[in-house]
Amino acid sequence: MRYSEDIIEDVRMRNDIVEVISSYVKLQKKGSSYFGLCPFHNEKSPSFSVSPGKQMYYCFGCGAGGNVITFIMEYENYSFGEALQFLADRVGITLPKQELTQEEKRQEDVKKRLLEVNKLAANYFYFQLKHPQGQDGYSYLRKRQLTDETILHFGLGYANKTSDDLYRYLKSRGYEDDFLKESGLVTIEERGGHDKFWNRVMFPILDVNNRVIGFGGRVMGDGMPKYLNSPETRLFDKSRNLFGLNYARISRENYILVCEGYMDVIALHQAGFTQAVASLGTAFTPQHAILLKRYTSQVILTYDSDEAGTKAALRAIPILREAGLSIKVLNMKPYKDPDEFIKNLGAEAFRQRIAQAKNSFLFEIEVLKAQYALEDPEQKTRFYQETAKKLLIFPEALERDNYIQAVSKEHYIPYENLKRLVNQLGSRMGTGSGSAAESRWAAGSQMRNSSAAGGVETGNQMGISGLDGQEKARERRKKAGSEKEEGSRQSQRLLLTWLIERPTLFAKIEGIISAQDFVEPLYHRVAEMVFAAHEQGEIQPAGILNHFINDEEEYREVAALFNASLKESLNNEEQKKAFSETVRRVKKNSLDWAGKQAKDILEFQRIIQAQAALGSLHISLD
Ligand code: UTP
Ligand code: MN
Repeated sequence: MRYSEDIIEDVRMRNDIVEVISSYVKLQKKGSSYFGLCPFHNEKSPSFSVSPGKQMYYCFGCGAGGNVITFIMEYENYSFGEALQFLADRVGITLPKQELTQEEKRQEDVKKRLLEVNKLAANYFYFQLKHPQGQDGYSYLRKRQLTDETILHFGLGYANKTSDDLYRYLKSRGYEDDFLKESGLVTIEERGGHDKFWNRVMFPILDVNNRVIGFGGRVMGDGMPKYLNSPETRLFDKSRNLFGLNYARISRENYILVCEGYMDVIALHQAGFTQAVASLGTAFTPQHAILLKRYTSQVILTYDSDEAGTKAALRAIPILREAGLSIKVLNMKPYKDPDEFIKNLGAEAFRQRIAQAKNSFLFEIEVLKAQYALEDPEQKTRFYQETAKKLLIFPEALERDNYIQAVSKEHYIPYENLKRLVNQLGSRMGTGSGSAAESRWAAGSQMRNSSAAGGVETGNQMGISGLDGQEKARERRKKAGSEKEEGSRQSQRLLLTWLIERPTLFAKIEGIISAQDFVEPLYHRVAEMVFAAHEQGEIQPAGILNHFINDEEEYREVAALFNASLKESLNNEEQKKAFSETVRRVKKNSLDWAGKQAKDILEFQRIIQAQAALGSLHISLD
């Protein structure tokens, strides 16, 4: 971190979080907190809370959370430095001059100028479109049924027929060749500069903060390539941006439509579906999925209905699943893409298709089915086996059973038979020796249900179906191990949460638990700060969070720790009882861990004694 802790803390404390967030989100006071609609995902009822006491925000819907600095980072898509500068300016603090290296200064300057130049170019293209020289482009877009309003809304434009028009314009604005080269808008050759785009209709690509970061240009007819896109630049990273997300993120639907092309997004928005985005001519990436996850928990794929579109959907599904998104697939038939569909059948019909969109797993099975000639008993059997194998991706017995039911119903496979097949395959998976772990799996993984209070299952079992036997077994062993770990993490997390929520509990655990007992590295760091702060008299959650600000995953998790009180508070009898048990578990884990590290027999004996003493440990909260 480039700034001292004191400065950061000063900036943070002088910017009251309720004041700052109020200028972005309408907040209403409820009890000691404020609530509003979460700006980081689409929702209809407020689950976004801001606590003036803790100086933190937290969304109970999507888990976004942090302090005033992370809020500005996430909302404005700023780096830590940019957010700090913004907040310092807001309250009139002058940050100490940064010792930027020459190179860092140059980089920042280039980025700023690239944004300028892209914006200039977008305005320039729009201007051309609206003037006689842009007539071809304008009539092309109108012919494709885009209204003037839509053209303006998306800032569509036209690149002239001449081959160095934009280049000369940008030169006249004082940009030098060396810099322009980096913009991706022109190529510089010995004989001078040339525009990358000419005689094309232009689609500016905006990031979530409405800054132009690149362009797509379409030929007006059948030329090749159909679309030309800006190359990746310092600003434009194709795998991290989605066309239309700047608008989709503020649509009030609780899902996002993901389609293939510029025209699909634009046609959908024009028809009122402002929750549509596209992954611009690149395959859908995990970064895209993570980006979407910030704004929604459900995605509906509206890829083209041809073979390429189906393939793209099959590739995107596991990536979206991995990010924890729920996924459906929309059936566009008999039309090719959303643009054509809407032109022919209209928005209402599309809305119906959204309502009928198919669960992504059932979609996968449907595609699988098409590969078999089912009138042949052998192929039919193979289809059933493959289906059963795919069903094994669901680790939860209940969920798996729901899918077995749905599949058997949809494809007329007798339920009992399919279930038996799934269980057989499940128990045969791996070494086939029928070890305890395997039979537990087949019995329906009760283990999973009773371990750690839930919420830990993710979709990343996806990989299993593609692995060979031994690897599968290893995968699963790893998972069993990580379940135990997850249980241990869970206890540490609960205890830490409770201590933060109710500092009087520190007295109850004195002499039993110290920061050392939190063995999970992240919790350990938090615990050390929390225990130290408690000793000094006051825990300041938002200040502690400053230490984790450089890692998004970390600060989100720490923010969750500080905000779990609603979900995991110690308000009822059951939880009061759980307190004693949780303390015992944390201590036990910590002792087990210490036992493994013990260096001599004396230390080991001491640990064993402590372990034995645990049995009689009881802490009453009353
Ligand atoms: P499509 O061919 O489906 O284009 O490619 P489209 O968006 O439906 O456009 P129209 O309706 O034919 O005008 C889908 C997306 O793939 C990328 C573009 O982002 C396009 O929107 N693509 C396609 C390219 O980058 N280059 C190409 O040559 C073709
Ligand atoms: Mn199209």
